Formats: sequence, structure tokens, C-alpha cells
Amino acid sequence: MRFSFAKPRISISVSILVLVVLAAATMLSVIRRSQTPSLSGRKVFSENRPPTMEQCADCHADACETFETAPHRLTLARGDSPDILEHFAGKSFAFENKGPLVRYENRNGQLWLASETWPNAIRVDWVFGSGQHAQTPISVLTNPDGQTESLQHRVSWYPTNTLGITPSLDTSPGFHEGLPQLVQPEDHVVTMDCFECHVTHLPNNGGRIDEEHIIAGVGCDRCHPGGNRHIASVEDGAISMERWSDLSPLESVNRCGECHRRADQLTDSELNPDRPILVRFASVGLTMSACFKEQSTVKAKPSTLNRLDCVTCHDPHRPAITDPTFYVEKCLNCHGSDDGMAIECVSQPMSSNCLPCHFSKQRMSDDLTFTDHWIRVRK
Ligand code: HEC
Ligand code: HEC
Ligand code: HEC
Ligand code: HEC
Ligand code: HEC
Ligand code: HEC
Ligand code: HEC
Repeated sequence: MRFSFAKPRISISVSILVLVVLAAATMLSVIRRSQTPSLSGRKVFSENRPPTMEQCADCHADACETFETAPHRLTLARGDSPDILEHFAGKSFAFENKGPLVRYENRNGQLWLASETWPNAIRVDWVFGSGQHAQTPISVLTNPDGQTESLQHRVSWYPTNTLGITPSLDTSPGFHEGLPQLVQPEDHVVTMDCFECHVTHLPNNGGRIDEEHIIAGVGCDRCHPGGNRHIASVEDGAISMERWSDLSPLESVNRCGECHRRADQLTDSELNPDRPILVRFASVGLTMSACFKEQSTVKAKPSTLNRLDCVTCHDPHRPAITDPTFYVEKCLNCHGSDDGMAIECVSQPMSSNCLPCHFSKQRMSDDLTFTDHWIRVRK
């Protein structure tokens, strides 16, 4: 029998597939829980659609143009987008330890996964990640309760334009049999979590995502809520948009931390600088740093701010800058020999590049590197 992951109806074949997948997964106890707690209060479910970027562009053309190529905007795409097809279609990947050969194919403008070991091709519905670091396909299905679940693919695309393993998925021995060799089933809660951090608007009906009307990517409204009110008030001659610079450093970091994770979501023992996973959570690391905690005690260089939050170093409307001198300059705004400044390095000249020693890139897997934002003398 051949079936597709056709949507939106719950076809019998899909239900059977769901049961097969769930049974396999339960038997092997492999449904992995998300490593992050579920966050409440994300505003992606509101009944009202947020304003579009085009509406903002009427008055903020520059911000919108810059944002076109922002990783935030591009962090979720449909399985039939031209860029996605270009990255995946026609590429194969063989798992090292006796795994099967998998192949992504363009079938009538839609991306599918085919494999030696599973008789049916699996349709790619969404791809997470802008491609700045990685892109991971998922396939959507509906469980017997009518809620959206997903299959996270074990193969991802990397900026070297090759396929590789999706890191941090469960690969315990005995796991690699049948369908779970190719994809990891994610339950409803985990699936909703994935989407909530990668969209601007997520309409859903009793847990079933209305995929047609998703606004994919982290758009203006995620960081500047209240756009409709703002536009109306501008027209009336008033400005009601909140400014990020009016937030305290902790409030500001915590807003980014809604997705980049927050230190107060973790227990004391989880907040151990030696846990490799924390490198992925920039806002956790930054808020644990002495530089962040003690920032108000510092007298910064004239005409610079003694303020440290994410926006000190990042413009969220564009990709991160890769030139280290840009960042070292920020360190030197606070660290120096002048009265009231934070102490100088006791090991290296202050003309050196601080980053490899105190703010270093760490390898998470063969294909993924993250920057440790917990500023410190690494042991
Ligand atoms: C009709 C024109 C108009 C539209 C449409 C508009 N804005 Fe504004 N916006 C303004 C004006 C005028 C200001 C105040 C001028 C300034 O501070 O630069 C402002 C200020 C802002 C600020 C604060 C800037 C600061 O100084 O920190 C943000 C953020 C912002 N707008 C975002 C948006 C977003 C997001 C949208 C789309 C939902 C939008 N605006 C739509 C006119 C507009
Ligand atoms: C709604 C969730 C969300 C919020 C809020 C958010 N981010 Fe992100 N951020 C993401 C996602 C998802 C990505 C991954 C983008 C990709 O796929 O490459 C990302 C990526 C980034 C990157 C990496 C860009 C690159 O070039 O690699 C930086 C830097 C960043 N965010 C900074 C911020 C800052 C600063 C804030 C707060 C002002 C913020 N983010 C708020 C979800 C969010
Ligand atoms: C709490 C918010 C949050 C949740 C939940 C979440 N992500 Fe992300 N995701 C992010 C942020 C922030 C980034 C950018 C920084 C990073 O990579 O961790 C990101 C980056 C990514 C990337 C780009 C590659 C990379 O590592 O930069 C992929 C792919 C991705 N996420 C897939 C997923 C999938 C699949 C799920 C569900 C299993 C998921 N995400 C759940 C916030 C989230
Ligand atoms: C990931 C969060 C994030 C997203 C998404 C985002 N912004 Fe911003 N935006 C910020 C932050 C943070 C600042 C403050 C920057 C600063 O103080 O340097 C800002 C500043 C602004 C400003 C003030 C002027 C400026 O450039 O500093 C405008 C206008 C603006 N954003 C409009 C938009 C519009 C329009 C969109 C969608 C096309 C958008 N932003 C998407 C976080 C975001
Ligand atoms: C002192 C400067 C600085 C501050 C503050 C800072 N970052 Fe970064 N960030 C960097 C550097 C340096 C990189 C690596 C850029 C490169 O070479 O690609 C980076 C990279 C990133 C990336 C891309 C993935 C990675 O880890 O390399 C994300 C996501 C990110 N930062 C998020 C944040 C968030 C969220 C905050 C606020 C909690 C923040 N950053 C604050 C300097 C900073
Ligand atoms: C907003 C000001 C500010 C910025 C920006 C800043 N720091 Fe700091 N940093 C401090 C303060 C304050 C301390 C606490 C020690 C002190 O009072 O001198 C500190 C402490 C440190 C320490 C010692 C940490 C420990 O746990 O013992 C190192 C290392 C360090 N900073 C490196 C850096 C580097 C590298 C950068 C740039 C990526 C940077 N700092 C950016 C203010 C800052
Ligand atoms: C080659 C690696 C290296 C470079 C580059 C480097 N540091 Fe350090 N730094 C260290 C080491 C190692 C220590 C700890 C020395 C000790 O305790 O004996 C240290 C100590 C410090 C301390 C004091 C921590 C404390 O509590 O005693 C600060 C602050 C600091 N560095 C800031 C910086 C800044 C800012 C830069 C860039 C201008 C920089 N460092 C460049 C390796 C480096």
C-alpha cells in the first residue's frame, strides 16, 4: 500500500501510520521530551492576525528592507519553497553505523524523503532554520485526538551545502529500526513548542494547527507587539510603540530569552557552566556573566553605555556580524585602566582578541558551532 502524508483530512492511512509510529516509539520508549520547559504567554495564538510587514514598510522602509534577509524572518519555510527545494532535492545521505541511505526528492514542486528501508516516501511539510546554521525538515501528522504532531527528520542541511545528522536526537542502540531510523516522532506538546518559537502567528483549532494560515518566521510583531494600535495612533498623531531601550537590561534579555531561553527557567544545578547544552542558550549564559550582573557598577568609556544586553552586540533585524573586532570593541567600552572601569585582563595585553579565551565558539556536533555567551575564564 502506498499512502501520502496528505492533509488536511485525517485519512485512514495516516491514522494507521500514526498508530504504527506511536506503537514503535512507545515500545522503544524513545519519545524524547523537549529539553526546554514549555513557555506560557507566547502571543502567537491570538485570534487577530498581526499586521503584515508590508504595513510597517509604509513608514519603516529601511527596517523592513534590512529584515528581508534576517535569519529571524527566514527561520521557518514550507516544504515547497524554492530555496528549500534547492537545498535538499537531489541530495542523499548514508548513516554511518549501518543505517540506510536516504534521499530527498522534488516531486511536483514538493520535497519528499525516500529511503531504502521504508516503502513509502515521507512528505516534508516544513523546514526549520534559516540555513544560517542548519535546516531540519519535519513532517506533520494528526493524532487520533485531532492534534498536530510531527516527525523530525534525522537528516539536516548545513551551510556547506551538504546533508548531515540532526544533532541531539535520540540515537540509543536498538533505536535504528524501520521508520524511527529516518525520523523522530515528536508528540503534540513538543511539536507546538517547535512552532511557537519559529513563527509570528500560529492559528490552531483545539490543538490542530491551521497550517494554511501560519505566519512563518519571527516577524515584527514578535518583538514589537501592538502594531495595529501603533499604526492607528500614528495616524492620530501619537506614537505608542514601546522602545526596547526603555527596558532594563534584564527585561530586554528576558524578552529575547522567550526563545533563546532564560536562566530563571533552569534549576541551580542545571546552571552549571560545564553543561555543553547551555552554550546554545545565549541569554542564559549572558545573564550568568559577571559582566552582566555587575554592569551598573562600571564607569564606561566616555560616549559609550555601561549597558550590556543582547542589543549591545546584535541587531536582530540582520544576521550576526562575524568580525571579532566589532565585539572586542564592546568589551573595551567597559574593561580598561581608567578610573571606575572594569578590571583589565591579568593574562594578556588589552590589545588582544578577547573572544577565543572568554567568549569562545564551541562545537556542538560535526556540523554545528555555537558561541558561549557565559563570559568568563574558561577552565
Ligand atoms: C503610518 C506610519 C507608521 C506605520 C505604518 C508604522 N509605524 Fe512605527 N513608527 C512610526 C513613527 C512616526 C514612529 C516614531 C518615530 C521614531 O521614533 O522613529 C514609529 C516608531 C516605531 C518604533 C519605535 C522606534 C524607536 O525609536 O525605538 C517601532 C519599534 C516601530 N515604530 C515599529 C513598527 C512596526 C513593527 C510597524 C508595523 C506593525 C510599524 N511601526 C508601523 C510610524 C509608523
Ligand atoms: C520568537 C522567538 C525569538 C525571539 C523573541 C528572539 N529570537 Fe533570536 N532567533 C530565534 C530563532 C528561531 C533563531 C534562528 C534563526 C535561524 O534559523 O537561523 C534566532 C537567531 C538569532 C540570532 C543568530 C543570527 C545569526 O546570524 O546567526 C541572533 C544573534 C539572535 N537571534 C538574537 C536575538 C535577539 C537580540 C533577540 C531579542 C531582541 C532575539 N533574538 C529574539 C528566535 C527568536
Ligand atoms: C524555546 C524556543 C524554541 C523551541 C521550543 C524550539 N526552538 Fe528551534 N531555535 C530556537 C532558537 C532561539 C534558535 C537559534 C539559536 C539556536 O540554534 O539554539 C533555534 C534554531 C533552530 C534551528 C536552526 C539551527 C540552529 O541550531 O541554529 C532549527 C533547525 C530548529 N531551531 C529546529 C527546532 C525544532 C525542530 C524544534 C522542536 C523540536 C525547535 N527548534 C524548538 C528556539 C526554539
Ligand atoms: C527578534 C526581535 C525583532 C524583530 C523580529 C524585529 N525587531 Fe525591530 N527592533 C528590535 C530591537 C531589539 C530594537 C532596538 C534596537 C536598538 O535599540 O538598537 C528594534 C528597533 C526597531 C526600530 C527602531 C529603529 C531602529 O532601527 O533601531 C524599528 C522602526 C523597528 N525595530 C521596526 C521593525 C520592523 C518593521 C520589523 C519587522 C519587519 C522588526 N522591527 C522586527 C527587535 C526586533
Ligand atoms: C558581547 C557581545 C555579545 C552579546 C552581548 C551577545 N552576543 Fe550573541 N554573539 C556574539 C558573537 C561574537 C557571536 C558569534 C558571531 C559569529 O562569529 O558568527 C554571537 C552569536 C550569536 C548567535 C548565533 C549562534 C552562535 O551561538 O554562534 C546567537 C543565536 C546569539 N548570538 C544570540 C544572542 C542573544 C540572544 C544575546 C542576548 C542574551 C546575545 N547573543 C548577546 C556576541 C554577543
Ligand atoms: C557593560 C560593561 C561590560 C562589558 C561590555 C563587558 N564586561 Fe566583562 N566584566 C564587567 C564587570 C563589571 C565585571 C566584573 C569584574 C569587575 O568589576 O571588574 C566583568 C568581568 C569580566 C571577566 C571576569 C569574569 C569572572 O567571572 O571572573 C572577564 C573574563 C570579562 N569580564 C571579559 C569580558 C569580555 C571578553 C567582554 C567582551 C566580550 C566583556 N567582558 C564585556 C563589565 C563588562
Ligand atoms: C589567550 C587567552 C586570553 C586572551 C586573548 C584574553 N584573556 Fe583575559 N584572561 C585569560 C586568563 C587565562 C585569565 C585568568 C588569569 C589568572 O587568573 O591567572 C584571564 C583573566 C581576565 C580577567 C580577570 C578575571 C579575574 O577575575 O581575575 C579579565 C577581566 C579579562 N581576562 C578580560 C579580558 C579581556 C577584556 C580581553 C580582551 C581585551 C582578554 N581578557 C583577553 C586569558 C585571556
